[in-house]
Amino acid sequence: MYNIGMYAPSEKPLIDSFGRSVTYVRLSVTDRCDFRCLYCMSEDMSFVPRSQVLTLEELGQIARAFTELQVTKIRITGGEPLVRKNVLQLFQEIGKLPGLNELVLTTNGSQLPLLAADLRAAGVKRINISLDTLRSYRFRQLTRTGKLEKVLAGIDAAIEVGFEKIKLNSVILRNRNDDEIDDLVNFAIERGLDISFIEEMPLGEVSGHDRKEDFISSDEIKTHLNQSFELIPTTETTGGPSRYLKVQGTQTRIGFISPHSHNFCSSCNRVRVTAEGRLLLCLGHEHSVDLRKVVRSHPGNIEKLKQTIRDAMKLKPERHEFDLSVKPVIFRHMNATGG
Ligand code: GTP
Ligand code: 5AD
Ligand code: SF4
Repeated sequence: MYNIGMYAPSEKPLIDSFGRSVTYVRLSVTDRCDFRCLYCMSEDMSFVPRSQVLTLEELGQIARAFTELQVTKIRITGGEPLVRKNVLQLFQEIGKLPGLNELVLTTNGSQLPLLAADLRAAGVKRINISLDTLRSYRFRQLTRTGKLEKVLAGIDAAIEVGFEKIKLNSVILRNRNDDEIDDLVNFAIERGLDISFIEEMPLGEVSGHDRKEDFISSDEIKTHLNQSFELIPTTETTGGPSRYLKVQGTQTRIGFISPHSHNFCSSCNRVRVTAEGRLLLCLGHEHSVDLRKVVRSHPGNIEKLKQTIRDAMKLKPERHEFDLSVKPVIFRHMNATGG
């Protein structure tokens, strides 16, 4: 007998048509953000009207449906998830879902001075914070609107409340911040944090920088780092796409997220839900299913939602086909999916 709030452990896991199990969902709670990072957005952005964004209740219901389908990891993303009003309620609700091993968050860090303690108390285990530079002037150039000091205070607040792991995310762009690779790693080492270097992906058209010209591969970054640090291979994984190296004699792992140079699609275990409720089966494709329509036309019917999610698995493509030399074929910007 199934009751509201009870967990149905006999449910089959989600498997796509290439035999991959989907156990990880990235849930975007808003497409809005207080920053306008060069590689993520263009200068003038329009955002989804609020009536089209999932309510916190709808987001909670979708999260619950996934956990009943054996999803064990939910990452809350944005835009910037922490600018969403009352978002803490959602963390508190998801944090209580049976079957969920990991509630995690990706954030730009600007709201952490206010929210870090409550997020930790709600059950958030690990957080990833974007940080591309340690120079205030450059931070303003890269984010267009952001303030470095606020983010550094956010990182301090996160360290203070004791998340199990904090990972920094850095997108390195040629001639913009590639002279700070060592400084960013040293910053992570001094604080006992992990850091991932991410190859930029062509999602949506951006103004103000040329993706192909500014591209730096993970291998180039690794070659550079090998001159400054002793790096040891490790098989450790977080279930995400980073391949890690450990910095000898420290707690810090350096991850490389290399969608261009080391495709990781064959081990993909995740799907995404946009703030509008589009279930996206791959970051690099537009294949999607409208979950908002289901939650709004069948309110409270979790079985209908679960069946829609199960059926969607056959749409999951085998891999992305990112190509920086052509105009983006994905019109959605990163802020619409949270990465
Ligand atoms: P953990 O490994 O759980 O710590 O998280 P993560 O590194 O996967 O998550 P995060 O939100 O910090 O994302 C870091 C970068 O990885 C972002 O640029 C994401 O777009 C990218 N990323 C995450 N999942 C995928 C994926 O399935 N495909 C591609 N191409 N990029 C991904
Ligand atoms: N390519 C790669 N990473 C990106 N991010 C935002 N836009 C892009 C892009 N076009 C990163 C952010 C953040 C994470 C969620 O995604 O820096 O750390
Ligand atoms: Fe905002 Fe993150 Fe996009 Fe920067 S990368 S504009 S912080 S959503």
